[in-house]
Amino acid sequence: METRHCQTDPLCPDKEIIKQAAEILKNGGLVAFPTETVYGLGANGLDTSACRRIYEAKGRPSDNPLILHISQISELQPIVREITPVAQKLMDAFWPGPLTIIFPKSDLVPLGATGGLDTVAVRFPSHPLAMALIRESALPIAAPSANSSGKPSPTRASHVAYDLDGKIDMILDGGPVEWGLESTIVDACSDTAVLLRPGAITKEMLEEAVGTVEVDPAIIGKPSDDLVPKAPGMKYTHYSPKADVTLVSGEPACVLKTINRLCAEAKEKGLSVGVMATEETKQDYVADQVLSLGSEANLEEIGANLFKTLRKFDFLGIDVVYSQVFPESGEGMAIMNRLRKAAGYHIIQAEEKGE
Ligand code: TXA
Ligand code: MG
Repeated sequence: METRHCQTDPLCPDKEIIKQAAEILKNGGLVAFPTETVYGLGANGLDTSACRRIYEAKGRPSDNPLILHISQISELQPIVREITPVAQKLMDAFWPGPLTIIFPKSDLVPLGATGGLDTVAVRFPSHPLAMALIRESALPIAAPSANSSGKPSPTRASHVAYDLDGKIDMILDGGPVEWGLESTIVDACSDTAVLLRPGAITKEMLEEAVGTVEVDPAIIGKPSDDLVPKAPGMKYTHYSPKADVTLVSGEPACVLKTINRLCAEAKEKGLSVGVMATEETKQDYVADQVLSLGSEANLEEIGANLFKTLRKFDFLGIDVVYSQVFPESGEGMAIMNRLRKAAGYHIIQAEEKGE
């Protein structure tokens, strides 16, 4: 299949291009499009065979449910059975925006979109191009991140093309995304909100809107038979680049020394070595490639650059990557959740004393 690539201004999308993309969606095809979090791979969320095409193109396990995207609140009612008071508060506070809410699903939503669950994840994105496309198609658009399953989520149209060229009908290129990490997911089916995936809407922000927020323990620990994540997709080793990633925690000076020692040892074995650093530390590392995620004072910047940087190590043919860790609060919770997965939960404690 030939994939059409269409570039358009994200703030003022070309009407003709949007029309053609919506036509593809209405006919059961697949269109990748930018949202404010990551690029999504869209299909008609009410059409089981269109959803099946998403799973095929991504190589995604069929028990991993999709998020349905809407472009106005009135599109929510037909696809959910109930809007709890907690859900209403979350919608009022954060929609449109980078928050996905889990609702009991209505009969309109096929089990083929929800991985067989009787709940449905819904997101109302704020990206003008995403909104224009959903509105024009007049459908709830099922859209997982537009990467091959297991790879870091795409934050640029070029990432989508690298993974999915020839497997989907169209890629709408609206430039780099704003956030760079997938949306926060909250289960709002009962009286208490449960955080299933951390993202740009932080736990602290959620608490301000709804009071108590429970956290799925699998967000922090390593998923296992005893610790099954409530969001099925969170159990997979996601976001992994080809390189082996190791995280090093501890005092900054000790982390630096330990990473430089590990780099030297890996070099000696003939491996090509990368370090994921920050603006503050990049000049202190010795490795084949030292890539900065941004300033430690700006976790939003670190989050926005994380997936792009993991993909760049792949592109550069790096075998092993070492990275420091980040604080677990605020946006740091989402960054550490993705980093731990990228590292296959391989985290070591820095041992050496600093200088
Ligand atoms: O930012 C985002 O959320 C992006 C953009 C494109 O909107 N989408 C995205 O989709 O990240 P995906 O499919 O890569 O991740 C969706 C996550 C998966 O972990 C899935 O298991 C979970 O949402 N999920 C979907 N429906 C669910 C449900 N009914 N109950 C629990 N988890 C659900
Ligand atoms: Mg994904």
